[in-house]
Amino acid sequence: MQVDTTRRDPGNEYDPFSEEHRADPHAFFERARGEAPVFYSPVLEAWVVTRHQEAVAVLKDHERFSVAFHSAVASRHTPETLAILGESPITGRALVRLDPPELTRHRKILSRTLSAQRTATLEARVRRLSMRLIDDLRPLGRADFVTSFARPFPGLVIGSLLDLPEADFPRVAAWSGARTALMYGEVPPEEQPALARGSLALEHYVLDLVERRRQELGDDLTSDLIRASGDEAAMTTMEAAATLRMLIDGGYQTTTLVLGSTVLRLLSDRRLWEEVVTHPDRIPAVIEEELRLDGPATSTMRRAKQRVEVGGVSIPDGALVQVMLSSANRDEAHCPNGETYDHTREPAAQHLSFGFGAHFCIGASLARLEMRIALEQLAERLPSLRLTPAQTVPYGKSLLMRGPGRLLVEWDD
Ligand code: HEM
Repeated sequence: MQVDTTRRDPGNEYDPFSEEHRADPHAFFERARGEAPVFYSPVLEAWVVTRHQEAVAVLKDHERFSVAFHSAVASRHTPETLAILGESPITGRALVRLDPPELTRHRKILSRTLSAQRTATLEARVRRLSMRLIDDLRPLGRADFVTSFARPFPGLVIGSLLDLPEADFPRVAAWSGARTALMYGEVPPEEQPALARGSLALEHYVLDLVERRRQELGDDLTSDLIRASGDEAAMTTMEAAATLRMLIDGGYQTTTLVLGSTVLRLLSDRRLWEEVVTHPDRIPAVIEEELRLDGPATSTMRRAKQRVEVGGVSIPDGALVQVMLSSANRDEAHCPNGETYDHTREPAAQHLSFGFGAHFCIGASLARLEMRIALEQLAERLPSLRLTPAQTVPYGKSLLMRGPGRLLVEWDD
């Protein structure tokens, strides 16, 4: 592909894995939206879409954009890593990599098992899991919020939904973390094989789970998935395993990151935290504004199925496109004062943090439920929660996700 990189273009400055960009990507994208809203990134070998209007246009155009590709960072994987990944026992594809019309069959099955109504029935269970973690935390007086709450909580929820033995939660979480890091991160060649083996272990685990549940159905999401597929052109064992792997990956990292970023924002401005403590009914609005301003899934990728024009820029057939959800959410043309946090906006700002169109996040209701319950309980049971002074919050090396990797907090018992 011949690309003219000589003109002034944010693409030449864009380095999503650099320390500077990870610490604060927003100023860069604000400038990009003004100067070159659609640009080519030589580092990424992809076109980057930064404004709301074009982001929506790409996400709803299934005729010309596909999700069927291996990984946005596949070109960085070593031959050894690719060989290990090639041993995957799962041959089916999960919906996140399927285009319509095949996608439609999978979504119909999965949305029955994770519908908003069904998710609402999980509230008591989710509340118990969160309560348990806070009970353990309370006497300690200080902790890393990420390792002691934000990471285990979504793991407990998804593990409990899938009815995994609790002893398995830590390794399932570690495998999923390895897989996500390898698929979306910048991993040095020597560290890749271990992560690829972790990904493989997760695949064997979910495949075994589906096979066991097929023998004996239970009262869990895996069994529901198998039951729900009964009257469709059935979901095969492979497809069910691919779907479960995706539920574990999708339901886990994102929720961890956004719990961290929400608590960081609230504790960085004492008035905000006190508002949440005294008016817990405002928590849903706080969550939506945080998702808009600092959603954990910062972008998603598509592949152009033909030459296509986006925002006046011609994107070649076969090119990868990074749709910057986080930038689109702050686009002034879509959301006035888009760079500013304000959960009292009227009407509340719409955001793309759960995606848009056919691939809209199936776990959005569950994620909102988890966040609301976590914040309600933290505010009620640890009202003196505060940031440990003089800390630097690290952000991991991920192309598609962003959130605090560590967040030191303290409280009075
Ligand atoms: C705050 C937390 C979450 C965020 C920000 C988030 C974000 C997203 C986004 C942006 C997409 C669309 C990807 C695309 O268009 O390429 C997506 C898809 C998806 N998410 Fe989530 N997600 C979250 C939580 C969850 C949870 C808890 C689950 C399940 C337990 C889940 C399951 C899924 C699934 C299955 C898809 C694929 C849907 C499809 O491709 O048709 N997500 N999510």
